[in-house]
Amino acid sequence: MKVAIIGQGYVGLTISAFAAEHFEVVGFDSNQRTVEQLNQGVSHIEGVKSSLLAKWIKAGRYRATSQGSDIGDCEIVVIAVPTPLTLDRKPDLSFIESACKTIGQNLSTPVLVINESTSFPGTLRSFIKPTIEKHSSSALEHRYAISPERVDPGRIDFNQKNTPRLYAGLTPDASVKTREFYSKFCDNLVEVSSPEVAEAAKLFENTFRQVNIALVNEFAQIAHSLGISVYETLDAANTKPYGFMKFTPSAGVGGHCIPVDPTYLAAVAEEHGAPATFIRRANEVNLEMSEYIVRRVTEDNGGNLQGKSVLVVGVAYKPNVADVRETAAELVIQHLRSQGAVVSWHDDVVGSWKGESSAPLQGAEITVVVTKHDSVDEKKILASAPYVFDTTGKVKGANGL
Ligand SMILES: NC(=O)c1ccc[n+]([C@@H]2O[C@H](COP(=O)([O-])OP(=O)(O)OC[C@H]3O[C@@H](n4cnc5c(N)ncnc54)[C@H](O)[C@@H]3O)[C@@H](O)[C@H]2O)c1
Repeated sequence: MKVAIIGQGYVGLTISAFAAEHFEVVGFDSNQRTVEQLNQGVSHIEGVKSSLLAKWIKAGRYRATSQGSDIGDCEIVVIAVPTPLTLDRKPDLSFIESACKTIGQNLSTPVLVINESTSFPGTLRSFIKPTIEKHSSSALEHRYAISPERVDPGRIDFNQKNTPRLYAGLTPDASVKTREFYSKFCDNLVEVSSPEVAEAAKLFENTFRQVNIALVNEFAQIAHSLGISVYETLDAANTKPYGFMKFTPSAGVGGHCIPVDPTYLAAVAEEHGAPATFIRRANEVNLEMSEYIVRRVTEDNGGNLQGKSVLVVGVAYKPNVADVRETAAELVIQHLRSQGAVVSWHDDVVGSWKGESSAPLQGAEITVVVTKHDSVDEKKILASAPYVFDTTGKVKGANGL
């Protein structure tokens, strides 16, 4: 069976690598450079080894393309394209729309279309299906299903195989086909009663994380004002064996999911006349953390950062990945610069970002740790400046939250 995966990023390439063991996979991506790299057996995603990609290419199980016609004879099409926010922070379905156009224009026989991109309840039924139909030349009866992706890039204990996967078809036969597809490479499949439940569950999972992160970030500020250690207090609370889940404070939330998905939920809630006050406030608290951190650093340094050399350690949104989307480091750097600080950053996992390159981990007046990759030595961080402020809780001996 031939499977097309639309979008070869974190989600799409990961699925491709697992699916290629059982199916012939065509990885469709609109980015020509990504396609060329992939066809040379070079993976741009941490969790997918280039050697595995090369193995599937050699075996004729995988190839990347940006030609729509190459997906024409596939029986299953998986959508894994970005679902970001627009500049005014509203759901942006333009990438899904473009993927639907590719599907509609290039498939001439009925297929199973599965959406893995994260979006609000109703996207499969009221947006994806009609958009594909609009672009199809003939009235094809495709099957439609949703299976929201839960992959956590960089994580090794949970992967495609052992992370339970939610799914639901628009029709019972779509559900059956979807189960057959994923059961080849996923151990635990959980069917829910409608695509809307699966879509909402994915948004709620990430909203749960967003509000708990906001809560602990607010608590970090409370603990500091009370003169107690936030980390010791959280460890103490965490000795309770039930009813408590430990989250740790940070410079904010980043990545494609936690800062974005709750806004999809809030937008659809408000469209239906339901308040999303808590979700909106949580987002604000997390965004304001960068300002709080810079305020603390300023206070500790004579109330003035003008002309001071500040090194930000870690600009990726989380440890051990090169992903900088929505990274809290961006806001921290912005606030530091607005205080007149001369800011450089060190992150050899990211390498270059926004036209700047990773600076050496040394020689600063102030170091602010935003993300700590495992490969970065704690002692070197402490030696990089006479004053070090750590937002991660991982650098013992530094100032911090
Ligand atoms: N990255 C994660 O950790 C993660 C986890 C769970 C869910 N998701 C969701 O999965 C979806 C994909 O996220 P991602 O992280 O893989 O994004 P990504 O940016 O890593 O990859 C998306 C890929 O799609 C390509 N693309 C964009 N528009 C296209 C089009 N019209 N046709 C073909 N290719 C196109 C891009 O070139 C890119 O290579 C999003 O909805 C995201 O919210 C992501």
